[in-house]
Order: sequence, then C-alpha cells, then structure tokens
Amino acid sequence: MDSITAPRRMLIGGGSIARLAELLAGFGLSRPFIVTDRWLVSSGMIDRCLAPLTAAGMPYRLFDETVPDPTDVVVAAGLDAFRAGDHDCILGFGGGSPMDTAKAIAILAATGGHIREQKVPRAADRAAVPVVCVPTTAGTGSEVTRFTVITDTERGEKMLIAGLGALPVAAVVDYELTLSLPPRTTADTGIDSLTHALEAYVSRRANPVADMYAERAMRLIGPHLRRVYRDPEDRPAREAMMLGATLAGLAFSNASVALVHGMSRPIGAHFHVPHGLSNAMLLPVVTRYSLPAALPRYAAAARWIGCAEAGDADQLAGVKLLEELAALNAELAVPSPAAYGIPADRWEALLPLMADQALASGSPANNPRVPDAAEIVALYRQAYGST
Ligand SMILES: [Fe+2]
Repeated sequence: MDSITAPRRMLIGGGSIARLAELLAGFGLSRPFIVTDRWLVSSGMIDRCLAPLTAAGMPYRLFDETVPDPTDVVVAAGLDAFRAGDHDCILGFGGGSPMDTAKAIAILAATGGHIREQKVPRAADRAAVPVVCVPTTAGTGSEVTRFTVITDTERGEKMLIAGLGALPVAAVVDYELTLSLPPRTTADTGIDSLTHALEAYVSRRANPVADMYAERAMRLIGPHLRRVYRDPEDRPAREAMMLGATLAGLAFSNASVALVHGMSRPIGAHFHVPHGLSNAMLLPVVTRYSLPAALPRYAAAARWIGCAEAGDADQLAGVKLLEELAALNAELAVPSPAAYGIPADRWEALLPLMADQALASGSPANNPRVPDAAEIVALYRQAYGST
C-alpha cells in the first residue's frame, strides 16, 4: 500500500503571494504567527508577505530569529513567542530554515517537551495549529513535505522529524520571490531539488505517484539549473525551477530521500556547510556507488535531466549521468569538502560518528544499494578531495 500526502491547497504562479490573505481566510484563519529570518525582514522581502495581510486587516506577529540549520534552541524561543500571542496558524516565510522552524514550533506547541522526542522513528503527526508555507528559494520543497530537520545543539545532530504535523495545509509557490537570490544560494538550493527528485526516484520506497512528481521535477530542473545560476533574472527559468523544486518535494515526501541526504546531514551538523552544498559534494560519489543497483532508473533520470539521449542504452545513459553530475558541480563552482576549508584531521576524526548518524537517520536504508558504516566512511573519504 502506498500512502500519499500533499497540502490541501497550493497557489502556484508569479504574483500568487498577493492572494495570501485570501488563502488563509479560505481555511478560516486570520491571526498568523510568521516565522522568518532577519535578512528577509531587513531586505524588505517580508513586505511581500505582510502587505496582503495588512490590506485584509489580519493581525500578525513576526518571529525573525530563524538561523541556518535551525536549532532546538530557536524552536523553543519560537514556541515561547507563539504562546505569548493569540494565533490560529503558523506561517513559514523563507527558505528551508524558516519553513522547518515553523513546522517544528507547530509540532512542539501540540506535544510539549523537547523537539528531539519527536524525531524518527516516532511519527510526529500532531500540530497545534495549521502551518502555511511560502518558499523564497527553489528549494528544499519543505512547503509540501511531511518533514522538518532540526539541529540538536547538545548532541550535534541534525534530526529528521517526520509526520503529518510537519505537513503544511497550504503553500504559496511564487517564483517571483526567488528573483533576487544570489547565484550561490540559487545553485545550492537547485542542486538540493535535483537530489530530492533523483533520490525519490531511485528510493526503495518509490511508488507510481512519487515517480510522477520526480520525473516532472527532473524534466524541469535539468534544463534550467545552469540558466538560473548564470542569469538570476531569467524569469522562465526561475519559474521552471520553482515548480520543479515543489514537485521534487512532493516526490521525496511521498517516497523518501536516500544515501546522499543521509550522509549530508552530518556534514551540515558538524561543519555548517549549507544543506544543498553538502548534497552537491556527495552527489557524484554516492551516485557512482549506487548506480549498479538501480541502473534502469538512473538511466531514465539521465534522459529526463537531458544529459542522455532517448536512444542511449542504460549503461551509456548511466555513464553520462555521472559525467553530468561532475560537470554540474564544476560549472556551479561546488567545492570539495577540502576546498571548502574542512581540515583533513577533523574530517577523518569525525567519520565514524558521521557514519553512525547517517545510518541512524534511516535514509541510507532507502538507497538502492544499502551501505554499512564502513562503506559510508569510505564514501566520505572519497568525497573529501573531489566534487
Ligand atoms: Fe534536501
């Protein structure tokens, strides 16, 4: 049996943020607690979110203390702020960090305790109030997923929290919010989206509905990722990437991510590498390792991404996929962990712990080829000096 989830309503298209108040009102909501970050406030981007609320006379409160790799500490502070007001929903406005923080606050408001008590394998199915998400990157896909990733600051672990409590009831997917994103963030978030679609499609938990989302996502992201990196103002390419990111989110939320994400979270937790970038550092090495276990699926992905011809045999398409992932990292200036500045001795010393944390997240078990801890350590070593 497959279990499929998605938000109850999504507004998709340029300018759709202007309909935010109408969207909330449709659910009987009118008093949002808005979770965002300081840059989105200081840059004025937040006005795109606040203007329709103000025009509709909806009172709101802003919580702008979200940090990259959102922490249990920030979630606790957000919960206090949420409880200090009278709110009937939580609105996550920003990249993955504000959206994931918004989800975690909604869950913790229902459960109490510490957010680590909700991590997998527990089902975090309860939320105190509905969550509505508005992504400003393309992207984590968090606006449509039943996941949130929060760092446990005491244990140095990026925790995966999964359940219906993390699934937004609604999302606004407006590519115009991404037009001002700098190339680095554009590349990192875009590779994250590509990784979501590819991992969902080769996952052991793949299913026909997730496959449909993954295929369409790869067809959109493949031809447009380089374009948005080179020209941030390329509106058709921005629009394609935004839809691709959301569809990739629906793909992995209904299948899973796999080994790249499993190994990526510990890199983020220990070395504070942005999420999409740590995925990119691992994607070529992990795909080479995994390819023989799901060759027809990787070959199909290569054709949809656009790096293999329709008539290429699977073996050739697989080789072309590996070449494409390496070329993409080179063109998008993705550094190796070494080039990023991670010292070799610290990397080496942490590998056993990182491998254990990767396995504990459950994601490697969804990979077409399932590694043990020693193989994960070997893959981390391979990735260290290469991209
Ligand atoms: Fe991701």
